Amino acid sequence: MKNVLIINGPNLNMLGKRPKEHYGSLTLDEINELIIKENNNYFNLDFYQSNYEGDIVTKIQDAVLGKYDAIIINPAAYTHTSVAIHDALEMFNGPKLEVHLSHVDEREAFRRINFVRDVTLKCFSGEKEASYTQAIAYLKNIL
Ligand code: DQA
Repeated sequence: MKNVLIINGPNLNMLGKRPKEHYGSLTLDEINELIIKENNNYFNLDFYQSNYEGDIVTKIQDAVLGKYDAIIINPAAYTHTSVAIHDALEMFNGPKLEVHLSHVDEREAFRRINFVRDVTLKCFSGEKEASYTQAIAYLKNIL
């Protein structure tokens, strides 16, 4: 069974308390349950959330060193700021999918600055929790 790392960045541990018009009303645990259901035991899933940029970089490095076959990442605010996450993702040769709950490309101008888009295979955004289940379904088709 292939190993898939699902990374969620800062403030995504607070889902449920964030603006619902952008992020929906589910908690991260509830979203993870939906992902597990969509996965249907196809992949071995490892869920990781951190509010710290360096910890996310270290987790991506675990994938570079062979621990994972694919990465699904919602870098949250680090999407728009992090050269370090860009550089870590760049080293990973397996499929990398970018996920966002909201329509990042249609919101404030600062959210259109994106440091991960050019080092990921595909982006799923704007569908709230369904962005994640769409990413898993896509991965099942290609892996
Ligand atoms: C987000 C969008 C980011 O701009 C924001 O900083 C987040 C969440 C999303 O899932 O829509 O925290 O990545």
